[in-house]
Parts: sequence; C-alpha cells; structure tokens
Amino acid sequence: MRLANELYRDSAVTAPSSSPTSAISSVSPGAPDTFAGIPGGVPGTAGSRSIFPDSFAAFPTEKPDNPGLAGGYPLATTTAHAPIHADQVEALGPPGSGNALDSGAHQQDSNEVYPFGEPRCNGSFRAREAYADTVESSPLFYFLREGDSRTGLRGQEPQAGPPLSGLEVDTIRKDFPVLHQRVHGHPLIWFDNAATTQKPRSVIDATSRFYSRDNSNIHRAAHALAARATELYEGGREKVRRFIGAADTKEIVFVRGTTEAINLVAQTYGRTHIGRGDEILLTVMEHHANIVPWQFLAEQTGAVLRVAPINDAGELVLEQFVPLLGPRTKLVAVTHVSNALGTINPVETIIGMAHAAGVPVLVDGAQSAPHFPVNVQAMDCDFFVFSGHKIFGPTGIGVLYGKAALLEGMPPYQGGGNMISDVTFEKTTYQGIPQKFEAGTPDIAGVVGLGAAIDYLSSLGMPAIAAYEHELLEYATQALSSIRGLRPIGTAAVKASVLSFVMDGLSNELVGRHLDRYGIAVRSGHHCAQPAVRRFGLEGTVRPSLAFYNTRDEIDVLVRALHDLRRR
Ligand code: ALA
Repeated sequence: MRLANELYRDSAVTAPSSSPTSAISSVSPGAPDTFAGIPGGVPGTAGSRSIFPDSFAAFPTEKPDNPGLAGGYPLATTTAHAPIHADQVEALGPPGSGNALDSGAHQQDSNEVYPFGEPRCNGSFRAREAYADTVESSPLFYFLREGDSRTGLRGQEPQAGPPLSGLEVDTIRKDFPVLHQRVHGHPLIWFDNAATTQKPRSVIDATSRFYSRDNSNIHRAAHALAARATELYEGGREKVRRFIGAADTKEIVFVRGTTEAINLVAQTYGRTHIGRGDEILLTVMEHHANIVPWQFLAEQTGAVLRVAPINDAGELVLEQFVPLLGPRTKLVAVTHVSNALGTINPVETIIGMAHAAGVPVLVDGAQSAPHFPVNVQAMDCDFFVFSGHKIFGPTGIGVLYGKAALLEGMPPYQGGGNMISDVTFEKTTYQGIPQKFEAGTPDIAGVVGLGAAIDYLSSLGMPAIAAYEHELLEYATQALSSIRGLRPIGTAAVKASVLSFVMDGLSNELVGRHLDRYGIAVRSGHHCAQPAVRRFGLEGTVRPSLAFYNTRDEIDVLVRALHDLRRR
C-alpha cells in the first residue's frame, strides 16, 4: 500500500504489515530528546525551511486545459488585491485618522463577488462540471480532490449551493449581524474563527424561534410541543448525519462539544478496551482536548501515551509515525486540522495505516468541519468529533460520530434520564445508541441552532467555502510575508484557515492589543496546544484565523496594522 501521496513530497513511507512489528522508537511527552531525529532538526536550526517558496511552488497559478475556468486559475491576478508591502504604508496614520485603516474593511468592490475572478462563460461553461473537473485535476484544490487523504470528499452527498467561483461574500456578510459593528472606532474584523465563529441570522432566529414557539422537553410526552421539539431535535441529528456523511443517525451522539466527545470516548471505549501497558498514539500538534482525556485514561489504567513528531513546517512526520504504531497501540487520536498551526493532516493515510494494524482512529474535526467537506465513511474513521460553535452554530453543542458497532459495544458515559430503558433499584437497562450516551435533558435549542448552521453551510456549499478560504489563506500568507521580522509558525504545504506567527522583539500580547485597537480580533497565546507551540521553541503565537466571511480587504487592514506596528 502506498501511504504518502504526492502532497507529502518528502515522505516515502511504507505501511506496517497487518502483523506489525514492535515499535522501533517512541516519543514520550516532555522527554528532552523528543525531537531528536526530526529531519531538518529543531526549529530555528539551519535545517528549517520556509513555507513561502515551497507552498507557492506547490500551487501553480496556471492551470491548463480547464474548460470550466477560462484562463486557468485566477489566483492572485488582480492588482486591486495585490498584497501590501512596506513601501505602500508610509502614509499610514494612527487609528482614527481616517486613513486606509479606517475605511473600507467592509466595503467590497464588485470584483470580490467572484473571489476567483468572474467566470467567463464560453458557451460550454457549466459550473458543476467545472467544479468537478477542477477537483479532479488541480493541485490547487488539493483538499477537494476525491479520495484525497486530507478530506472526506469522496462519497460526499451532493450539496446544494453555488458553483465554485460563486461565493458572494458581500452578500454573505449581511447574514452575520455581529460583523456590522465598530470596535474602538473601526469596523470589526473577526480573525478569531479558530476559537469560535460568528453566527448567521438564521441560526440566531432558529434558536430564538425554538424558545418563542416550540420549547418543550423531548421524547417523553404526548403533547404537541413535545412532538415539535422532538422532531426538531431528531431532525438536527439527521442534518448532522448528512453533513458528515455518516451511514445512520444512530451513529450521531450529541454532546457539549469536541472536548466532551473525546472525554466520552476515553472513558467508555478507552476504559473498556485500553489497559496497562497499552498505547494511545497522538501527535505533537494535538489540542489539549485531545491530550488531557488520554492522560486521565493513562493514569486510570496504566496505559501509555505515544506522541508522533512534527517537522519544522508543522507537518506530521509519517516516517516516524509508522514505527510508533506498534502491537500495543490500541487507539490513534489525531487532529484533522491543527488549531495552532493550520496543518491539514493526511487522515485517510493515517487511518489506512492504523486499520492495517487493527487500530481504530479518532479524528478531532473541530477545525476541519468548518472549512471543507467531511465524509466519515469515505475517511473510514472510527470516531469523528466536532463542535457546533466552530461551524457557525451555538456554543454548548457538539457531536460525537462513532461507527455503530463501536458505540454499541461501549458502556454509557453518564447515567440519568433519557438514556435508560428500565430502572429498578436492583438493575437498570439502557437505551440503544445514541440515546444511551445522552443522559438528561440535552441542549435541544443547541441542536436546533446547529441544524440551522448546517443548513446555512449547505446552502453555500462546503466545496465553495473551502475553495474561497484557500485563496484567502494563500493571499494572507503572501501578504504577511511582507512584514519585517514576522516569523510564520505552521508552514505546512497543506493548510487551512490558520496564520500563526510571532514578531521579532514584540510580545504576542502586545501585537494582539495593537490589532485590537484597529478592531481586529486575533488570538494571542498557546491556543490550548502547548506541545505544538513549544515544538517551535515558543510559548505562544499571534493567530489570525479565517472564515468564509473574511475578505482580502480585511487582510489588507491586518497587514497595514502590522506594518504600522513595526514602524513604531
Ligand atoms: N480551541 C479553541 C482555539 O483554538 C479555543 O482557540
């Protein structure tokens, strides 16, 4: 089996056989020699490489023979949106001076209706065919390619939505009330999407409507409102099923969020199947939510954590992942997209390797579900978890997907109402899946809002969102490279949404506060991913993170503000 596709250019690893040999090497969390042997050495050494030349080389701007997108890919071809360089910002005044930083962040010119340039219809132009052709043949849209290891596009149910080049961001922005405010006198620029996303009016209205009209507990009453609420709740489950391409609604468990979902798996699947000396394989780039629950389990059972290293670009080192997948490995838990670095992991490759060794895989989809199509059946993950608030839905609601056979074999997580079939003081029997895992009154309004968020995303089309955001990320990456003393952190060839960086001589907090003065919301800190950030010799970064309602104009404002900071 060929494990690394062409996108992992430097990798040429071989899968373990179905009878894997024992681990050759392992990496213990916090061990001083953790990064010994990483190709390229530790961050900041001579072996480091920059993303900029590599990433741009990987994504050519010309694509021949694409009948749908006349002229090939219009990536970075409009002068109106050329990245800003230092010599263009000399006249920049302070915030509030009425300069370019003060205006226009939310004014888009007509060119931006088509972020890839307006499609030139040539008579045979058919948007959907063009999209399909694009997906199949272009390295630019690597993350959409059918069967690609980064996403579950393969097998995705058809989604309603506009064609690839038709994401009308100026119209979309009108759906988000929170975006239309001024902060410190400037239009709000929300670049903290990896922490949480803003909510479209339809999500706010659906939640409000539920409480105004339909509020009832679910499942357990004969009255009209109970029926309505139950229908909305179970309807939300079906929407989630479709959104992630699960086979059956019984594989969808509602939880509070990604964190609770992982804790649930650790304390149910883990306590049942993982014992003393068994190994749980993680990566350095995991969010704390995909580390600490496994540490709890390790403390409780005597299991051991193994941690696969990442390289200087923030990419998983597959050659070193393979030997960690040993005979004692009982579970792999890996993030789909790193919240601190933006790296998109080759999850299908990882899952293929793990399954060849008989090991199930949990994929943390908190940062992938908002950005590109996910299909859990195509990916063949065993568990997939994500949060509602990161996909433009409410806080306090999230999803655990698990293959039915696995969920059925797991004990309940919490006990209480709703999850039982029959209770006596001598013995309690449980409902089947998924109710077995949904003790107590769930967040019904949260599910209603989550369903509305999924409807909203589906109306735009996840492929269109992914394509738009990819171009925005490329634009922003190039634009940020113009800032003196800015070091990008997380320069993987295959990335989504996140633009972590540090600036020479400036604390992350200072940079964050400076940007806030311009109404720009970014996160400064360790992003709940301390091992990932420390891999780069840092305690934190500044992290702008993008969503489909962000624009190149907003990135221009960010870059100007950073140039301004550097000049002071
Ligand atoms: N996990 C969230 C983040 O990455 C909070 O910021």
